[in-house]
Amino acid sequence: MILAIESSCDDTSAAVLSGRKVLSNLVSNQEIHKQFGGVMPEMASRAHLEKISIVVNAALEYANCSISNIDYIAYTQGPGLIGSLLVGSNFARALAYAQEKELVPVHHMQAHVLAHFINSGANYHEPELPFLCLTVSGGHTQLVAVNNPLELTVLGSTIDDAAGEAFDKCAKMLGLDYPGGPLIDQFAKKGNPKAFQFSCSKLDEYRFSFSGFKTSVLYFLQKQSKEFIEENKADLCASIQAHIIESLLFQVKKAMKEYRFKGLAIAGGVSANSGLRNAVQELCKQNNWNCYIPKFEYCTDNAAMVGISAYYKIQNQQLKPESYQANPRLPF
Ligand code: KG4
Ligand code: ZN
Repeated sequence: MILAIESSCDDTSAAVLSGRKVLSNLVSNQEIHKQFGGVMPEMASRAHLEKISIVVNAALEYANCSISNIDYIAYTQGPGLIGSLLVGSNFARALAYAQEKELVPVHHMQAHVLAHFINSGANYHEPELPFLCLTVSGGHTQLVAVNNPLELTVLGSTIDDAAGEAFDKCAKMLGLDYPGGPLIDQFAKKGNPKAFQFSCSKLDEYRFSFSGFKTSVLYFLQKQSKEFIEENKADLCASIQAHIIESLLFQVKKAMKEYRFKGLAIAGGVSANSGLRNAVQELCKQNNWNCYIPKFEYCTDNAAMVGISAYYKIQNQQLKPESYQANPRLPF
C-alpha cells in the first residue's frame, strides 16, 4: 500500500495505491493564481501548506484506509518550484519518520510517463515495450524512450519554452485566463486551424523550440485591434494549437522512424489537449503504431502517477536514493 504526495507546482494531490491499482487520487487546484495570469511561487507554497493535510487525510479516507495500512510514502522530489516541493517532501518525510514508513522520492517527469502503467480497470492495456513518450507539461517538453518502467531515456527536449508554456503565454496574449491551455483547446474546437500562419520550429536532434513561434504570435497580435482578436478568437486559438501540435509531431515522427518504435504515448498536462490527442491517434493509425493516450485524470499533475513510479522502485528494490531532499532541478 502506497500513499503518494504530489506538490511540484500549483496542484496539491494525494493518492493511495494498492500495488498498481489506484484506490484514491485527489487533486486540489489552486485558484489563487488566476488573478496574476500565472503561478506565483510563494502563493503556491502557502496554499500547499494550507491544503496538504486535508488532501492527504481525504485520500486515505476515500481509499477506506488509515495511515496504519500504508507501507510506503512516496513524494515528488523534483523538478518543480522549490517552495512547493518543500511542502510535499517535508510533509512526507515527517509522516514517514513519525509512522515508521519507508520513504520513496520520485521524479516528477518520470512520473508523468509512468502514469501509463497505472492499471486503470476493464479497458486497460499495458503499453508494449519499448515505446516513445512525448511528455508535454507546463515546465517541460521531452521525447522519452521507454525501455521499461525503470529505464527511461530523454532523446530530446525543448531549448526554451515548454509546450504548456507556449499555450499559456499565447492564451495570455489573447486575454484568456491562466491556465490558458484548456481554454485554447475549447475555442479551437470551433475555429479554422489554417486561418493564420505563424512561425513553426523544426530543429534537428529532436529539439523543440517555442520562443520564435511565441514572438510571431505576439507581433501579429500587436498589429490587430481588440475587436479583431475577439471576433477571430476561435480561428486564432485553432491556428495556435495547430502550430504547437505540428512542431511537436515533427520531432515525434522523426524519432519514431529513426528508432523504429512500434508504440507512441503522450503524457503531461498538454496531453489533455483534444487536438493533440486526435492528431496522435490519427498518426498512429496511419503508421500502424500502438497508441497510448492517458485518461484525463492522469494527464495533469496528480499523485497517482507518483504512486505508480514508487511501485516500480519498490518492486526493483531501488529504495536507497542518494538524497531525500527536494530538488527543483532534479536530473532525469
Ligand atoms: O503536467 P501539468 O499539469 O503541470 C506541470 O508539470 O507543468 O501541465 C500543466 C500544463 C499547463 O501549461 C496547461 O495549460 C496545460 O498543461 N494544459 C493544456 C490542456 N490542459 C492542461 N494545454 C492544452 N490543452 C489542454 N486541454
Ligand atoms: Zn507535471
